[in-house]
Amino acid sequence: MDNRGQWGTRAGFLLAAMGSAIGLGNIWRFPATAYENGGGAFFLPYLFALLTAGIPILIMEFTIGHKLRGSAPNSFNKMDKKMEWIGWWQVGISFVISTYYAVIIAWASMFAWYSIGLDWGSDTQTFFLNDFLNMTDPGVFGNIVPKVVLPLIVIWLIVLGVLSRGVKKGIEVANKIFIPTLVVLFLLIVIRAVTLEGAGAGLDAFFKPDWSSITDGSVWIAAYGQIFFSLSIAFAIMITYSSYLPRKSDITNNAFITGFANSSFELLAGIGVFAALGFMAAQANVEVTEVVNGGIILAFVVFPEIISQMPFSAFFGVLFFLSLVLAGFSSLISISETYVSAVSEKFNISRGASVVFGGGLAALISLAYATQGGLALLDTVDHFINSYGVALAGLVEVVAIAWLYRGLKDIQNHANSVSDIKIGAWWRYSISIITPIVLGFMMVQNIRTELASNYEGYPTDFLFTYGWLVVVGVIVVGVILSIRKWPTQTTYETKQGGITHDK
Ligand code: ALA
Repeated sequence: MDNRGQWGTRAGFLLAAMGSAIGLGNIWRFPATAYENGGGAFFLPYLFALLTAGIPILIMEFTIGHKLRGSAPNSFNKMDKKMEWIGWWQVGISFVISTYYAVIIAWASMFAWYSIGLDWGSDTQTFFLNDFLNMTDPGVFGNIVPKVVLPLIVIWLIVLGVLSRGVKKGIEVANKIFIPTLVVLFLLIVIRAVTLEGAGAGLDAFFKPDWSSITDGSVWIAAYGQIFFSLSIAFAIMITYSSYLPRKSDITNNAFITGFANSSFELLAGIGVFAALGFMAAQANVEVTEVVNGGIILAFVVFPEIISQMPFSAFFGVLFFLSLVLAGFSSLISISETYVSAVSEKFNISRGASVVFGGGLAALISLAYATQGGLALLDTVDHFINSYGVALAGLVEVVAIAWLYRGLKDIQNHANSVSDIKIGAWWRYSISIITPIVLGFMMVQNIRTELASNYEGYPTDFLFTYGWLVVVGVIVVGVILSIRKWPTQTTYETKQGGITHDK
């Protein structure tokens, strides 16, 4: 008997997969990454990464989940016992990401509230760093910040509540509400942004191609990094989500739809953000280049400033921060589902118990980012877990499946047996040759940059503890968990339909 959860409709699965992909990464990571890496010219490496790594890996992970019907560690174990640790490693990466991702959503929800009275005043940087976060030096944690902890608790309660209701009644229903609402809110913001004075100059700055950047290796690394984080690949999510697909489900088409929907949203975010930056530059009578900023500062310092200058500022402020909250929520649900499903299967406990243990532990750890020293901690963990967690786990995943296990032919046959679009040489070469080469190069470059200077100038012992120890710790925990035996019922399931080796 198959008593795992299952999606109610194809649209339900697609919305959940898109909800996972479309997240904070699309709104605060993509626009600045594109701008800093060649503007319009960035689209070439970005599209290359999408078509040679993003969508091919998405197809592979969808197929693994659909065929093997297990959480990531369970699915890897069904391929080969020796690969189970890769599944746990990816689950561990998701666990770590969930601990800080929830905190950014907490900030955004407070800023939605502050938008009503434009509480940040005229010095938005001082407001964010000092008045709101009450920031200390890196490594000094100080006290818990109540303004962050209170929304953080609410966010965890909602996410864990959704997860405890299961796949169809919880995750599917939440995404059916969140994603359409997000698209409407975000479209309103983008339409408003492009009709502001100065928007054209902002868009010019965003799209103007700097073709010389194409020969720069770091631009390609940025494109691959963006695709992995943004498409939620190599962190156990897509294997878990597709394990809830009914037997008769299309795979390849769903992967293309998810990939293109995510990139469309990313492009939309880029247009909205740069149009708004153009407006800000026009107000201050400066060049757009002078107002561009990335990541957290873009969302919580630059945007409040833009919002204050806009007509109907409170309204658009609430829309912007609510969009961040909604995009974040649907991704956090997917990130946390990876460990909820894995722990429940491995330890043979109910979904509810797994939500309490797994989610409860993540929520507890997330309190560390809600301290006065939380920002530096968040920045460091995010940097390391993406560079040496997601990207490295992606590299190990493709090499293990394509070269050590030699399972590509079987995965391809399975995908083709259920999908409208048939995959062939493009897919196999992308997974077995192009992606390993680019990711391998990326790893070497990343480590060289890391060793050349301390990330953001943070102290060495701080980076060692919260950067290197975290990334290595996740691997060690993964290996330890993979040694433990599966409960009998799941072991029985593991005997059914693995992935066969290439002849
Ligand atoms: N894919 C999610 C994002 O872009 C994690 O934020």
